[in-house]
Amino acid sequence: MPASTFVVGLFLPYTVDFHENATPRRGSTPPAPTANVYERKDSTIDAKPTRLQVERTASLFNQPTPPRTPSVSGDNGEFFAQNMSAATHFFRAHDPRSLVRSDSHVPEWGSALPFFNQPRSRAGAPPPDNILDYVRNNEMEKQREARRKSKSPHGKRMSKSRSTTRDPWGTEWTVEPAVQGNGAMANAVRAATNAGSMNDIIWLGTVGFPTDALDEDVRAEIHEKLETEFDALTVFVNDTDFDGHYAHYCKTILWPVFHYQIPDHPKSKAYEDHSWIYYVNLNQAFADKIVKSYKRGDIVWVHDYHLLLVPGMVRKKLPDAQIGFFLHTAFPSSEVFRCLSVRKDLLEGMLGANLVAFQSPEYAEHFLTTCSRLLIVEATGEGVQLENHFVNVISLPIGIDPQGLGELRKEQEVQQWISVMEQKYKDKLLIVARDKLDHVRGVRQKLLAFELFLNKYPEYRDKVVLIQVATSTSWADNPELAATVSDIVTRIDSQHSTLAHQPLVFLRQDIPFSQYLALLSVANVLMVTSLREGMNLTCHEYICCQDGAASNKKHGPVILSEFTGCASIFGGNELSINPWDYQKCADAIKEALAMGPEEKKHRYERLREVVLSHTGEYWATNLVQKLAQAHEEHYSRDTMSIPRLSPQKLAADYKASQMRVFLLDYEGTLASFSNPDNVHLSSPQRVLDTMNDILSDDRNIVYVMSGRTPESLERLFSRVPNIGLIAENGCFVREFGSDEWISFPELEKMKEWKEGVKGMLAYYQERVEGSWIEEKHCSVVFHYENADDMEAASRQAGDCANHINDACESQKVHAIPTEKTVLIEPYEWSKGSAAEFVMSNLSDENEIGEKTPRPDFLMVAGNDREDEVIFRWANALSKKESIKHVTSVSVGRRNTEAMATLTQGTSGLLSVLTRLTRPR
Ligand SMILES: *[C@@H]1O[C@H](CO)[C@@H](O)[C@H](O)[C@H]1NC(C)=O
Ligand SMILES: *[C@@H]1O[C@H](CO)[C@@H](O)[C@H](O)[C@H]1NC(C)=O
Ligand SMILES: *[C@@H]1O[C@H](CO)[C@@H](O)[C@H](O)[C@H]1NC(C)=O
Ligand SMILES: *[C@@H]1O[C@H](CO)[C@@H](O)[C@H](O)[C@H]1NC(C)=O
Repeated sequence: MPASTFVVGLFLPYTVDFHENATPRRGSTPPAPTANVYERKDSTIDAKPTRLQVERTASLFNQPTPPRTPSVSGDNGEFFAQNMSAATHFFRAHDPRSLVRSDSHVPEWGSALPFFNQPRSRAGAPPPDNILDYVRNNEMEKQREARRKSKSPHGKRMSKSRSTTRDPWGTEWTVEPAVQGNGAMANAVRAATNAGSMNDIIWLGTVGFPTDALDEDVRAEIHEKLETEFDALTVFVNDTDFDGHYAHYCKTILWPVFHYQIPDHPKSKAYEDHSWIYYVNLNQAFADKIVKSYKRGDIVWVHDYHLLLVPGMVRKKLPDAQIGFFLHTAFPSSEVFRCLSVRKDLLEGMLGANLVAFQSPEYAEHFLTTCSRLLIVEATGEGVQLENHFVNVISLPIGIDPQGLGELRKEQEVQQWISVMEQKYKDKLLIVARDKLDHVRGVRQKLLAFELFLNKYPEYRDKVVLIQVATSTSWADNPELAATVSDIVTRIDSQHSTLAHQPLVFLRQDIPFSQYLALLSVANVLMVTSLREGMNLTCHEYICCQDGAASNKKHGPVILSEFTGCASIFGGNELSINPWDYQKCADAIKEALAMGPEEKKHRYERLREVVLSHTGEYWATNLVQKLAQAHEEHYSRDTMSIPRLSPQKLAADYKASQMRVFLLDYEGTLASFSNPDNVHLSSPQRVLDTMNDILSDDRNIVYVMSGRTPESLERLFSRVPNIGLIAENGCFVREFGSDEWISFPELEKMKEWKEGVKGMLAYYQERVEGSWIEEKHCSVVFHYENADDMEAASRQAGDCANHINDACESQKVHAIPTEKTVLIEPYEWSKGSAAEFVMSNLSDENEIGEKTPRPDFLMVAGNDREDEVIFRWANALSKKESIKHVTSVSVGRRNTEAMATLTQGTSGLLSVLTRLTRPR
């Protein structure tokens, strides 16, 4: 049976529209606002805005139609809104399976009219912002509950009889393309499916509206229809969970934090931690649904910040599953992320995936740093090394479907709008923008910059028009921002509008997709001033529309905030701005408008190349490949899939060979861990005896590898003459049969960086009670195993490792956080490099000109991450067949690249070695 790919997002690309009477509304005008809206019986809605808020925002919101912007040439708001029914028609006339919008374009009449006829939430009033109120409410609720219980022992029956109202939902409904959710992803996945690079897609998500009001039967019918006709599995969660998750945890905590709205802002709701439980519940419902539908070999792709916990939850139940996670939004720096009280749960949830992917290298970097700081794990360029598995981390920007968009642009409706707009804005220079009106999009900054531009360059005053479409489903959420923006709009209008010309058109509503495409086609400049953004595809769409095919306007430049995901792929061919720098933004507008055709074309062609190569299809296809690779690697390193070492086979190889080399790690492999201070006490006789046994055969060469200093190793093995030693993880070698140490690094150079590092460590030592610093010739170790407050100590250790990694990069030194220590050492030498040296020496002629026979047996044993490089090296020798019998064995429990494992640990290894020399 072919495997399926679950594409998991909060919202399915489909939703359901209910019809009161049997006639479907396809193509007709939407119903009046109050028709058939489920009345909330709950009377506890007390989230009314304060009087002040109402007064301040009344002018903006209390109008059924968008407010008028004064203009001689007719009302712009009406101009864009006049054909709403046509828009609805345009939108619905398409098969729900083939929509091509990167995000929702919902023409809204304020927020009074729902686009679809759907039930409202039955969840109670949202939890209050104030934690004290929350506690008080909770107490009252408990008391009420107690009273109810004491009055009637049949509380359940009572609550049932309260909801006997006829259910209006379910008589007639149709499946429609969803207007919310991630259109870009849906398009990308569809493009990849059409191209044949993704097969058997199963969408998994919610229908995007509260479903408590639906009958059980209706839910079952919806589930069945979506599953059988649309390959979509519906997750149903109750309204309380849905509201608490989406409207609360996601929108008021995660989204702001991920976009640098730091929670110590007094207005922040980050302390509203009681909504966390809803986030967990919803994630669990998703995970349960996946686990229930999963078949061996299936692929699970989890998308976006709504579902951060899902990979971890699924992993718990399906240890071998192929799980990928893609974050569509930005990922903040660790300093911001650490403000979240549940930071560890979130990170651990994401790390349940085999592959975690981001929109840009910057966000991937932030994630790696955050993991290494907060979880005290080792993060490399490739990913995160956890105790027993590795998680790959990559960045891969999403893109658009240029073909689909091209088709859509040919529609007559778009063409009509283009000619209408060209007519209306003949001889004008058009700057266009479409943003959600929230703090993150920087609309305020853009308007201020535009105002400054008009003042600074008066010659453009009657030539230029900025058309700002401001979309928002919840303006009332941001009354202050709305009021500020409104003030600026009014000011620009009163100062710069003349009878003949109005330089700013500010639309307080979204426009239909056809108008949007037309607007992008007739624009001269696109201006994006987001303060932080994942990967918004508006730029991509603009670039597609500027090919000149649809209008006489073409190759328009893009003014783009440096804080956007797009900035990371456009390679400087945009006009990059810092939205906080109004002067530079104003100058950028001037530069864009004055740019000559040559330069425009030059920049445009490069941008177009980016857009056409980083398509949605490319994104989806690549993600699938990268995940398969990561999963394959992880799977092959999983101790469960690595065979046990066969002592019989090893003994046979041993007997059949003439020249044998053993490279054996000491700590954790030959001997259990012990305190390096008490070397003599812990020196175990059994190890020394075994070594002497092996060495009694002169066809055997033994090297012991360790992180200890040469002096300490020498003392330890003083009674094993001739043994080869590799000290300080490969920095020093005492060759077999020799009593001289070879040092690979220059010790003078080591002193230099050690001084610096010790200085930094002193800072952390002071802050961690009970910590101490160990210095060796070529490394420094920060120990905190005796710390009083382990939690605080490991946090400091994480910071410490990052601090040193940032500061010492140029000295070729890195810090590795391990269990209760941070090891700082040069990365140019390793056990691998030492082993290579030793082997190459062995294969050469020696000084006296005597030829040592080439080794035909190699056994490598180790247990931790330092030993992986030597396993890799040994495996390569085996592949090249330069040595006949190669065995690499791990006695650790971590995932490994070794060929075999020995689960009985150190004593197991010693018995195996003993059996070689003293066959029973
Ligand atoms: C609205 O759209 C319809 C159908 O596309 C068209 O016939 C009509 O003329 C449009 N109305 C206006 C006012 O543009
Ligand atoms: C909603 O579902 C959660 C489980 O996800 C459950 O704990 C909670 O009690 C339910 N709430 C209501 C109001 O049914
Ligand atoms: C892009 O920006 C628009 C306007 O702010 C917004 O509606 C849309 O959701 C954004 N899309 C993505 C993928 O972030
Ligand atoms: C190994 O090589 C080093 C330098 O290349 C040399 O000094 C040393 O004597 C060699 N040892 C043996 C055993 O050949």
